Amino acid sequence: PVTVYPNQQIASVQVAKRIADLIKARQSSGGKAVLGLATGVTPIRVYAELVRMHKEEGLSFKNVITFNLDEYYPMQPTAAQSYVTFMNENLFDHIDIDKNNVHIPDGTLGTTEEVAAFCLNYEKQITDLGGLDMQILGIGRTGHIGFNEPGSAPNSGTRLVTLDDLTRSDAARDFGGKENVPTKAITMGVGTIFKAREIILMAWNQKKASIIKKAVEGEISGEVPATFLQLSEHVEFILDEGAASELT
Ligand code: F6R
Repeated sequence: PVTVYPNQQIASVQVAKRIADLIKARQSSGGKAVLGLATGVTPIRVYAELVRMHKEEGLSFKNVITFNLDEYYPMQPTAAQSYVTFMNENLFDHIDIDKNNVHIPDGTLGTTEEVAAFCLNYEKQITDLGGLDMQILGIGRTGHIGFNEPGSAPNSGTRLVTLDDLTRSDAARDFGGKENVPTKAITMGVGTIFKAREIILMAWNQKKASIIKKAVEGEISGEVPATFLQLSEHVEFILDEGAASELT
């Protein structure tokens, strides 16, 4: 289903509420909530609202376990552009989550063997916890979810990938020039994302309207990996009016 909100602030508060409700439901049954998280500009207001709920309403993240979708490769966690830094600054440093419960792909591994072993273990950690309760997604202009660029297989798992040229252009500003953007990343696969019990894909602004039209209404194809989401019964597209503006 597609839900359109008047603006991204209202939409983000709704998504944050959904996350908070899941956390509280798990809390009251003595269990843990396993969340799949995204970086980028899209979820920033969701995280801001979760931080507000923590500070003003006592929402606790003590029972929350998180797995981020992706990280650039190579990337040092302390670098300004790392997704570790992003998550700390936008969420983790402001809530009571146990940092041992935070998982973000490791951009520091030296060999392809180490990366492959890390990726297998990432999948195993998710599976051992019973899978992701909820996966939050943005969408790239290539149609990527996570860093599953055009050509990704629907059953793909966590792996090392090559970033699309357009994705690197879109990241150029953060890195002070496209030449500084890593050419690779470690990402959860389309298959990893699919196993989540709930998937919420968010998109804001006119800028995302044409890729949202393809993702929601286009032919299902690995050329636009987000179209695979049409095959899932657990997906919700949450849009603002700009991102929804080309839908029929
Ligand atoms: C981020 C990620 C990407 C972004 C996408 C949109 O962890 O996996 O798929 O969600 O590139 O980025 P923004 O939100 O910056 O437009």
